[in-house]
Amino acid sequence: MDLISRIPKVELHLHIEGTFEPELMLKIAKRNNIQLPYKSVADVKKAYEFTSLQSFLDIYYQSAQVLLTEEDFHDLTYAYFQKVATQNVRHVEMIFDPQTHTSRNVAYETVVNGIWSGMQAGLKDFSITSKLMLGVLRDLTEEDAFVLWQQALPHIDKLAAISLNSAEQGNPPSKFAKIYQAARDKGLLAVAHAGEEGPSEYIWQALNLLKVNRIDHGVRCTEDEELVTYLKQQQIPLTMCPLSNTKLCVYKDMSEHPIAELLRKGLCVTVNSDDPSFFGGYIEENYRAIQATFDFSDKEICQLAENAIQASFLNQTEKQTLMDELNNIQQEVCHD
Ligand code: HPA
Ligand code: ZN
Repeated sequence: MDLISRIPKVELHLHIEGTFEPELMLKIAKRNNIQLPYKSVADVKKAYEFTSLQSFLDIYYQSAQVLLTEEDFHDLTYAYFQKVATQNVRHVEMIFDPQTHTSRNVAYETVVNGIWSGMQAGLKDFSITSKLMLGVLRDLTEEDAFVLWQQALPHIDKLAAISLNSAEQGNPPSKFAKIYQAARDKGLLAVAHAGEEGPSEYIWQALNLLKVNRIDHGVRCTEDEELVTYLKQQQIPLTMCPLSNTKLCVYKDMSEHPIAELLRKGLCVTVNSDDPSFFGGYIEENYRAIQATFDFSDKEICQLAENAIQASFLNQTEKQTLMDELNNIQQEVCHD
């Protein structure tokens, strides 16, 4: 087994609805008697040609329409764990988008209980630990976010963090300062998508106004030298998703992706999959795609794995267990 297969992996940027594989989507659509504009898996895959974040979100929200029952959300979540158990994924911090479902009259409880039971089954059957992050849709209003918050509060024990998702441009983090404050007051940690398609200014806002612990994507920090220096000094984790960025045309070619440059500058960058069923790969494929482009040394691959462990919301003991395992592998293979 090569190094990328062997390293213990921690996934920090994953939309559970973005793991919905076409086979399962068609199966659940049939079970729920829902018509989709696709007859076969090949038909579904043909639709996965994206030109921007919005062109993807349209298809992503459409596919989520077939999810109705607790069983559906359980099956979606369980299928993800089953898949990444083959990639030595050991811990996952996943985002879910309740507003995508409550807007179709699926109850918040149905969504959260189904995903939660999938997470418990993932722990039992594959020994993968996980945490759940509440996704706020930024193209909806602040008022909508507070409606969601009221639904989430009775189940807050299931949440580790709040997160900001969906169409970034024109929906700055500043719009959600109050809901982030409310979430932090209840003890949640905070992450936000920033600097994916939106400007580097949104990364500053996420840090200063939302007080996030991590930035999702953050690739456009490269446009602001002062920001890059700050991210390095503070070791703010950036959860990058290389296959997502090329698939959504943030970069025309992987060679333009800043992950290697930022890693080599000493920033806390991590490798993640975002919406793996739509973007052509899970976490391991993301590692392989950047390795093929940037020819990382064994030490750099181990650094990426270490960054993810350290950037996770695990406690020190849990982090140390994964670090011990990574260090053993590193001692065996890293001679550079
Ligand atoms: N960006 C923003 N919001 C999202 C994404 C993404 O890549 N995937 C699902 N929601
Ligand atoms: Zn994302």
